[in-house]
Amino acid sequence: MKLLVTGGAGFIGSNFVHHVRRERPDWEVIVFDALTYAGNRANVPEVEVIQGDVADAESVDAAVARVDAVVHFAAESHNDNSLHSPWPFVQTNLIGTYTVLEAVRKHGVRLHHISTDEVYGDLELDDPAKFLPDTPYNPSSPYSSTKAGSDLLVRAWVRSFGVAATISNCSNNYGPFQHVEKFIPRQITEILEGRRPKLYGAGQNVRDWIHADDHSSGVLAVLERGRTGETYLIGADGERDNKSVVEMILSLMGHDATDYDHVNDRPGHDMRYAIDASKLRTELGWEPRYRDFEAGLAATIDWYRQNVAWWKSQKEATEAKYQVLGR
Ligand code: NAD
Ligand code: TYD
Repeated sequence: MKLLVTGGAGFIGSNFVHHVRRERPDWEVIVFDALTYAGNRANVPEVEVIQGDVADAESVDAAVARVDAVVHFAAESHNDNSLHSPWPFVQTNLIGTYTVLEAVRKHGVRLHHISTDEVYGDLELDDPAKFLPDTPYNPSSPYSSTKAGSDLLVRAWVRSFGVAATISNCSNNYGPFQHVEKFIPRQITEILEGRRPKLYGAGQNVRDWIHADDHSSGVLAVLERGRTGETYLIGADGERDNKSVVEMILSLMGHDATDYDHVNDRPGHDMRYAIDASKLRTELGWEPRYRDFEAGLAATIDWYRQNVAWWKSQKEATEAKYQVLGR
């Protein structure tokens, strides 16, 4: 198997590359990545990295022609960025996915498209329902709406052109190599820098946390055994409100659990996400390995402690952006 991983120098893409190298050592893996602020070649030193833009048809075509399958992670991925600068999200998430689809169509290559549970919009805190693959799409932000649009393009290319594609929509990931703009690494690195964590609004919002390595094993299961045209939801029953997560990080790092600040809320802030992954579990026999969130979080904190050089160079610019937003 020759696999092309778009966005493989980013957080989840690089975790997936490491996962595949461990689980399928005979596969050849090539990364295709624009190396934006979120991508780092050093995350995947063991594989070939083609530096290219997924919206650039010529370089995508040349890379896709070399492989048997594509796993498409490349995206602009941060909601807060999409709220002050939506254009790169339209360009990469929509035009980029269109470009990948046209290349896999031309070369008859298998595609697995990576998406998010945020395409479904949000749930009320007391809603007993969780997201299912056929829950109607109702995205809130430029990020989630461009991911929703990319999913719809994939579905149309399957039906209209017979492209052999699958889609997975996963909940919020945590683990090593996550950019310091995101919730958990931001709070850990704020504490390591001697500052206080920053909670948006009252901190009641709920996210359904999954370790990035469990996301990777779910993606591999769908790539190998998923049915063409199907959508699989990936989640590990990890619902927690933001306030509890900040308090847990503070306690694990030896601080008083109340040592955080409330900052301006995110406009249009989704209240709750929750995944029902029973289709992936029953149809493909997938199970998460990381079942203890506190232990996974403690290991993640250790990783940021031990890899200061990895995140330090991004930290100042990230906090400067948040300063402008009052968050
Ligand atoms: P990330 O921002 O850490 O990484 C994105 C990667 O894509 C980077 O390496 C970046 O350089 C690359 N990239 C960006 N624009 C590109 C372009 N135009 N051409 C080529 N490469 C480009 O993101 P992430 O958190 O690792 O997310 C990866 C995928 O997983 C995304 O599709 C995202 O929607 C999806 N997802 C993320 C989460 C999460 O919790 N982070 C949850 C579910 C799904
Ligand atoms: P984030 O990691 O941006 O992921 P997403 O928006 O895709 O869920 O944020 C996770 C949650 O944490 C979200 O409810 C917003 C909140 N949040 C904070 O409270 N403080 C922060 O500094 C950040 C970055 C996010």
